[in-house]
Amino acid sequence: MSLPPGFLDELRTRISLSDVVGRKVMWDSRKSNQAKGDMWAPCPFHQEKTASFHVDDRKGFYYCFGCHAKGDAISFVRETENVGFMEAVEIIAREAGMPVPKRDPAAQAKADKRTQLAEVMEQAVQYYRLQLKTAAAGAARDYLAGRGLSEAALDRWEIGFAPDGWQGLWDHLTGKGVAGDLIMAAGLAKDSQKGGKPYDTFRNRIMFPIRDARKRSIAFGGRSMDPSDNAKYLNSPETELFDKGRSLYNHGPAREAAGKGAPLIVAEGYMDVIALVEAGFAACVAPLGTAITESQLQMMWRVSPEPVIALDGDRAGLQAALRLIDLALPLLEAGQSLRFALMPEGLDPDDVLKQQGKGAMQRLLDGALPMVQLLWRREVEGGVFDSPERKAALDKKLRAAIAKIKDPSIRGHYGEAIKQMRWELFAPKRSGKKGPWKDKPAPVQPSTKSSLLVSAGQGAEEHLREAVILATLVLNPGVLPDFEGELERLDFTSPEHRHLRDCLLRFGADEDLRARIETEAGAALASVLAPRHVQISPAVRNPGDAEVAAMCVAEELAKLAAKRGVLREIEEAVEDIGGVVDEGLTWRLKQAAEARDKAVRSENEDKAMFDTAPSGAQMDRDERNAFARLLGEIEQNSGAKAKK
Ligand code: UTP
Ligand code: MN
Repeated sequence: MSLPPGFLDELRTRISLSDVVGRKVMWDSRKSNQAKGDMWAPCPFHQEKTASFHVDDRKGFYYCFGCHAKGDAISFVRETENVGFMEAVEIIAREAGMPVPKRDPAAQAKADKRTQLAEVMEQAVQYYRLQLKTAAAGAARDYLAGRGLSEAALDRWEIGFAPDGWQGLWDHLTGKGVAGDLIMAAGLAKDSQKGGKPYDTFRNRIMFPIRDARKRSIAFGGRSMDPSDNAKYLNSPETELFDKGRSLYNHGPAREAAGKGAPLIVAEGYMDVIALVEAGFAACVAPLGTAITESQLQMMWRVSPEPVIALDGDRAGLQAALRLIDLALPLLEAGQSLRFALMPEGLDPDDVLKQQGKGAMQRLLDGALPMVQLLWRREVEGGVFDSPERKAALDKKLRAAIAKIKDPSIRGHYGEAIKQMRWELFAPKRSGKKGPWKDKPAPVQPSTKSSLLVSAGQGAEEHLREAVILATLVLNPGVLPDFEGELERLDFTSPEHRHLRDCLLRFGADEDLRARIETEAGAALASVLAPRHVQISPAVRNPGDAEVAAMCVAEELAKLAAKRGVLREIEEAVEDIGGVVDEGLTWRLKQAAEARDKAVRSENEDKAMFDTAPSGAQMDRDERNAFARLLGEIEQNSGAKAKK
């Protein structure tokens, strides 16, 4: 339906976004500034303890620095109330005391129909629940007891039973005056081919009600009691209420539990979800009989930044995980990823809990692999990479996979992590041959250590340069916007520096930036400001001149880049010695040396500032290590050749 012109603008000016949001969040009173309409709270869209959800009341926009959820009052109501655009407008208009424009009749009818369908579904839930208590359900009750479900659990999950007749539910509902076409539109009965009465969709099945995030009953999953039935599980057909690719089993309760800090676990089946939750793993969902869809993935990320996919330990489970990687790669964003917990061969989470207990499940979840490792294993599994051509083919596949990642910063980190694993695989010293799936997972290097050679020794000088950059930006917030991109990409050498960087990006060019950082990261800031080199840096000694500050930051960034660039060049050259020393290597080394000379020259220019700067052409420790290792590789390599 169309709204009167100007209606939305009027609506937006009448309401305050912080009022709308305030009903769903607890404001962080320390961080918020009500007078300025600058409000902060833990994000309602993902699970967190810190307040990274920002509402700018004047602009009427919100943005979460953790999960990147953003929008205005209407989108906020849509997301949190799980309603459509018009419904959201109506809710807000009602609150603002604005007359709500009349819905057009078709939309009204559709909303009414959905409400009616949900009511029919609710009646079906009650009917199936009652049936489970009758004599006809004896076998079903025994089966459920045999699977370890207590009475209380049956109640909690509203588990029911569809008796074996053809019209049990149909007769019950029509007897209560429910229209036949509603029962069919709810997917509970089907038209008879032979012209008789419609017949029940679910017969002789244990019934699992499926509710949406708002806890409305939208569908059923039914497990057959008859082992000869060819569908072990039967789900409701798609209806006006049920879009299976956009629904998750146990969505609402899982969202609540995740909000209280429980990690989100994604299992394959109903029984797995029930068993996990009953065992105390409270935030747990499952897709509904199909592979996980993009919408489901987005729904999961709204619940938690890093859901753990608990895979059945069989071929199909593994296949599903690998497909999921391809689905997830293009959607990755900072703080939005997946982990994979591999169940032992032949077991699903329900089996693990029954056979090995909670402790074993906890250990499997704790050992969940980051996605990058599963990706690596997928490409390397079973392969033999004993020739340059084969290695090149592997590199090509890995590059293609990484290229799917849209977020440049994550793409960079994936590249680094893969490089590290590639190094470990091809390093000549590698002992023994282990099947990649059987290995203990190699710990992924955190991003700061992603460069092999940078991690070889902590460059004191790099650390200082970072400190100058950070200190300059804290004291000169005005230039911050110019460096946000570079700041984000920079690999910092310590967690404190990383934390400061995150604060800078989060708070932005705020006038009381320094005060806020002092509250959030006081110790880190003090340690950055302490060194003499930092204190004598021009824009730190005399803050306030934007031009000077920008120049200082740019210069330090450039020097860091030059320094790290040369290390990476050497690193790549080392990697290239997979079996052959070629001319390319000699050339690359020359290039590396030249780049290094350049970096050293620029270092000499500010020797006064850095006492620790290497003098003349002397190499620093990182570079020495790199060259030493390179020489070792070459020696080893020519030794191997000589033996042939
Ligand atoms: P599984 O066959 O792994 O079921 O299917 P399960 O959860 O371990 O079931 P139990 O333990 O034997 O009772 C996993 C999920 O795949 C869907 C269901 O959603 C099921 O929970 N499925 C499976 C179907 O939709 N239809 C089927 O015939 C089988
Ligand atoms: Mn099972």
